[in-house]
Amino acid sequence: MIIDSQGDLTLAVEQAMAGTPDGRLREIMGALVRHAHAFIREVRPSEEEFERGLDFLVGIGQATGETNNEVVLAADVLGVSTLVGLLNKPLDGVRTAPALLGPFWRKNAPECALGDSIVRCGTPGPRLVVRGQVRDLSGNPIAGAKIDVWQASPVGLYENQDADQPAMNLRGLFTADASGHYHFETIRPAGYPVPTDGPVGDLLRAQLRHPYRPAHIHFMVTAPGHATLITQIFADDQERLDSDVTFGVLKPLVATFETTEDGRPALRCDFVLEPGETRIPKAPIP
Ligand code: BEZ
Ligand code: FE
Repeated sequence: MIIDSQGDLTLAVEQAMAGTPDGRLREIMGALVRHAHAFIREVRPSEEEFERGLDFLVGIGQATGETNNEVVLAADVLGVSTLVGLLNKPLDGVRTAPALLGPFWRKNAPECALGDSIVRCGTPGPRLVVRGQVRDLSGNPIAGAKIDVWQASPVGLYENQDADQPAMNLRGLFTADASGHYHFETIRPAGYPVPTDGPVGDLLRAQLRHPYRPAHIHFMVTAPGHATLITQIFADDQERLDSDVTFGVLKPLVATFETTEDGRPALRCDFVLEPGETRIPKAPIP
């Protein structure tokens, strides 16, 4: 169609894309264009503001590389990653709530025996036992479930951000026993700021937002016949639980400390998986 006014544009673009053979792509792009046009009509950016917006998108691409994924970070601080998680796995009080993957998960964490420590050097910090059980929706234990765990150090850095930590420090892959139980030793993670040296940091400063995530441990739990669970557990004594910069703290993911039979501090992290397929995400950074 030949465009006669701004009002024609949305339809013109939708018509241009109408022949997309992939129905889901057609639906997604149609909605994207309708919402993007509605957004532009609402905010009416000046040409200069439009240029700034495009520069932000270019900037998040350019700031993405070997050690940082600024695109994932932008999705996280805008609440998009958590929203996608919650729409795919609404909170139902039964299966474990999801949480964002974050940029620091790595493939091929070292396989560990139950009870092993994931502290791979003399990283100082208060020791912690993490233990729990993996179950299905009916409460049956899932023997052999794989629990991939990763966390920041007590100074708030993942090993792949920190030259002082050995490779794969504070990461491990555990296999639940015949009753679905697992346990391992670690040190208490600290809260940390998300990377703020790129365009997302500029945005947070412009919004007077702090860049911190409360301390947490990440888990990816898989078992044949069950949907992959990606989640995080937060301890209830942490600061900033109510202002996580990435909106990852969901009520059911806040755990309380307990004490082991021999008096060590422990965090109980039980996981309930739903039926589905194992899908391993692409690592945000290599
Ligand atoms: C994380 O939890 O590892 C994380 C999430 C979003 C941004 C940065 C880090
Ligand atoms: Fe994290």
